[in-house]
Amino acid sequence: VRAGRITVNGQVAKEVDDKAFPHEVLIEGQPIEAPDGLVVLFHKPAGYVCTHNTNEGATIYELLPKHWLQRNPPVTSVGRLDKDTTGVLLLTDIGELVQRWTSPRHKVSKMYEVTVEGELKPELVALFAAGTLQLEDEEKPCLPAKLEILTPTTARLELVEGKYHQVKRMFASQGCPVTKLHRSRFGDYTVADLE
Ligand code: URA
Repeated sequence: VRAGRITVNGQVAKEVDDKAFPHEVLIEGQPIEAPDGLVVLFHKPAGYVCTHNTNEGATIYELLPKHWLQRNPPVTSVGRLDKDTTGVLLLTDIGELVQRWTSPRHKVSKMYEVTVEGELKPELVALFAAGTLQLEDEEKPCLPAKLEILTPTTARLELVEGKYHQVKRMFASQGCPVTKLHRSRFGDYTVADLE
């Protein structure tokens, strides 16, 4: 603003604290990116945590364009994936979308591709579907989840909730620690061929 590089509705902006409609603001003649809010489909790689706290190691935010990090409200992930988990993660600066996509009421479906140690027994399908699996330190049992066993050590699991480390805890509770986890779908969104 002070350098005269901003126009609002065709007029050079004068005051830093003037209010303006984002659609009417140009920076050096260019419109603001995503003035109505940003929604990003992100293919999370392994090795990055979903937090703004840099004490926990490399964060997904390091992988984003710098100017996204300067947006206000800030760009944030819709829920979190563990450091070693890969796959679909939505990012947005629209608070209502975070609410809607993470609220237990909305029961957004998520698909996970799971590799485990040990052997996946066919009985797990009925157990996970029953809605009775009680994880330690949780008030309520897991909601019914759809398990498809692909091989003795690989499976696909569809969940409509997101308790802390839920997938890993579900399989670990049955003697099958997860060694690899990939989220292939979040709601209607898949990574498809996104790098
Ligand atoms: N469940 C987990 O255990 N980890 C994830 O990253 C996502 C779901």
